[in-house]
Amino acid sequence: MFNVKDRVVVITGGYGVLGASMARCLSELGAHVVIVGRKAEKGEALVTELSALGAEALFCKADVLDREALIAAKEAIIGKWGRIDVLINAAGGNMPGATIMPDKNIFDLDIDAYRTVLDLNLVGTVIPTLVFGEVMAKNGKGSIINISSMSSQQMITRVCGYSSAKAAIDNFTKWCAMEMAKKFGEGLRVNAIAPGFFITEQNRTLMTNPDGSHSDRAKDVIRNTPFGRLGEADELHGAVVFYASDASKFVTGTVLPIDGGFSIFSGV
Ligand SMILES: NC(=O)c1ccc[n+]([C@@H]2O[C@H](COP(=O)([O-])OP(=O)(O)OC[C@H]3O[C@@H](n4cnc5c(N)ncnc54)[C@H](O)[C@@H]3O)[C@@H](O)[C@H]2O)c1
Repeated sequence: MFNVKDRVVVITGGYGVLGASMARCLSELGAHVVIVGRKAEKGEALVTELSALGAEALFCKADVLDREALIAAKEAIIGKWGRIDVLINAAGGNMPGATIMPDKNIFDLDIDAYRTVLDLNLVGTVIPTLVFGEVMAKNGKGSIINISSMSSQQMITRVCGYSSAKAAIDNFTKWCAMEMAKKFGEGLRVNAIAPGFFITEQNRTLMTNPDGSHSDRAKDVIRNTPFGRLGEADELHGAVVFYASDASKFVTGTVLPIDGGFSIFSGV
């Protein structure tokens, strides 16, 4: 039921902390993993590591906002395997410019930075969905997994642009799930996971002090998490395998929190 062996799984932002962890898990389970990213050196290094785990892996150099580069990636994948079974839209993240720091307020918002963070997190999910999802639509089968965030449902201070983008990801996930199923049948599914708080490259300066200890913000998060801790990347694996496999074959349009209870806690 949870079998992902021989599935062709494309992961954008695949050498990021969460994407790479998912890639390792899926490779160990026998999936063919395609890493899509901007830096060949990082991508090729991960592909070498993944290939040693068993299944074949491939790196395709592309920015998620560059449709032509994504089309070239799609052609390389089709040339090798003839299909795409799963797309994980893991490229994304917060950007300091689109963040309102405590000594500033909404009227200080840098609109260019706001647009940039919307582009990366929202448009950078939509374009890969169009390019790789079309292959799935032609085959009548495929699972798309988007990455939402705690900031889409509850208001989290500072992260203005990122929150707008991730709220739009929830909406796009549901809209696309409806559209795909109605136009291409139940083999096409679109879901999202909403991770709680995990220390990765995109949030390291918000969540840690220069000496690596937890920032006051990280301590606030932990206080508001019933499990009393941050998440570990491998705690996303179960949900990813669920969505990537036939275990979830009647599931579409969902957004699954993986957050140690953060999203259901009032804080009192
Ligand atoms: N870390 C968390 O606590 C957390 C929580 C909720 C959601 N998320 C989401 O998880 C996803 C993965 O992020 P992460 O936490 O592993 O951070 P990360 O910074 O380690 O990984 C993000 C990856 O995206 C890549 N990327 C950025 N812009 C790109 C572009 N234009 N084209 C291609 N690749 C690009 C980066 O190079 C990096 O490899 C993001 O969507 C992030 O918003 C993270």
